[in-house]
Amino acid sequence: MFVRPGSVVSRICFPTAPKRLLQQYRHEADVTWAQRDVRFQGESGHDADWLSLPSLTQTGHGARRRIQIDPGQWSRQVDAFELKLHKLTEPVVSTEANCKSNGNTHMQDLTGRTAFITGAASGIGLGIATALSQAGVKVMLCDIEEEALTTAVEKLKLTNADVDGVRADVSLKAEIKAAADATVSRYGRVHILVNNAGVAGGRGYGHWTDAGWDWVLGVNLMAVIWGIEIFGPLIEAHGEGGQIVSTASVFGLIAGGSPQYDVSKYGVVALSEGLRKALAPRRIGVSVLCPGVVRTQIVNSSRNVPRRFAGKIGSLPPTEGPVADAIKAFQHRTNNGIDPLYVGELVREAIENDWPYIFTDTEHEAMIDRRFAAIKQGFDRIRGRTPRR
Ligand SMILES: NC(=O)c1ccc[n+]([C@@H]2O[C@H](COP(=O)([O-])OP(=O)(O)OC[C@H]3O[C@@H](n4cnc5c(N)ncnc54)[C@H](O)[C@@H]3O)[C@@H](O)[C@H]2O)c1
Repeated sequence: MFVRPGSVVSRICFPTAPKRLLQQYRHEADVTWAQRDVRFQGESGHDADWLSLPSLTQTGHGARRRIQIDPGQWSRQVDAFELKLHKLTEPVVSTEANCKSNGNTHMQDLTGRTAFITGAASGIGLGIATALSQAGVKVMLCDIEEEALTTAVEKLKLTNADVDGVRADVSLKAEIKAAADATVSRYGRVHILVNNAGVAGGRGYGHWTDAGWDWVLGVNLMAVIWGIEIFGPLIEAHGEGGQIVSTASVFGLIAGGSPQYDVSKYGVVALSEGLRKALAPRRIGVSVLCPGVVRTQIVNSSRNVPRRFAGKIGSLPPTEGPVADAIKAFQHRTNNGIDPLYVGELVREAIENDWPYIFTDTEHEAMIDRRFAAIKQGFDRIRGRTPRR
């Protein structure tokens, strides 16, 4: 659809749920604008007036901009509203996506869907929970840290978000199952699974222990496998489609300095790539999130060593020397890392558009290219030879 400057560009209707509480609204378009107006329909006294919206904010990147109505100021009962953009630099806006579901992803409109997110009390998980709840998704936050979980849920509730929390140690399958049961009894249908809980732990060559491998692989990989095993059928059962997002890392595509972490993250990438094809006919999209350096508490992962592994992970990392320096440098980098809410917004966009890979930035792209080039060289070395059979 093509529109002229100053015309009404978007009439948003709610065909399935009239008179819903409009908590926030996002609109994405290839435009820039100087002023935005909105008018609501369905609420007495506000039917026809155009209201100026100074509280509208623009976020996003490149040509895609996101308009967001501040929920506190504009929460109201509506069954439709229209948005008018002024001073369009380019008179091109597509409004198609707003009321239709996308045939490929089934998740274009996230409003009213339910998400289950692990590791949601902190960092990236909390960023994803925030971004999804801002899009009108009902979110069950899951985490091992009870106090942080309660705080996160309380803070999100203050923004009118429909969220709840369930404590679970995701390295125990029975606890994921119990969390899934709690989610179903709280919200009914689940559409989005975000396997995000993760720990950077374990020790390097010469220092690793079985408990260290069990802990890191349990949280970072087995929990993802069990999450998909438990939530996959729940998403499939209602037939409305859904999305599974699992947090790996750029270290799921290049090996860094931590064997347990790298193995677990390569596993998450492999699992996601493989299941993407298998689950597409079941109307479940599969995405893998490969963040770079994000401002979170990941360096302090040992706060979450489950009791059964306490004291068995291996000797504590040195406080002096090259290893200690590397840890300090990484801590400094995460302290200055990417905003977790920015990552959450990328994940929201990825779910809406069924992205296979979600990267947060291009910092590690050249390293990944070098890995692929090295693999290619491996083929080049034996090219032209005929294997003996
Ligand atoms: N921060 C980064 O730079 C970065 C980069 C790449 C990937 N990641 C990945 O992002 C994910 C989120 O980590 P983050 O960086 O936000 O760190 P974080 O420590 O801030 O958050 C991790 C969350 O997982 C929870 N958790 C840990 N063990 C758990 C368990 N057994 N059961 C349930 N919950 C558990 C923690 O309590 C915490 O709330 C992880 O998978 C991590 O590997 C982070």
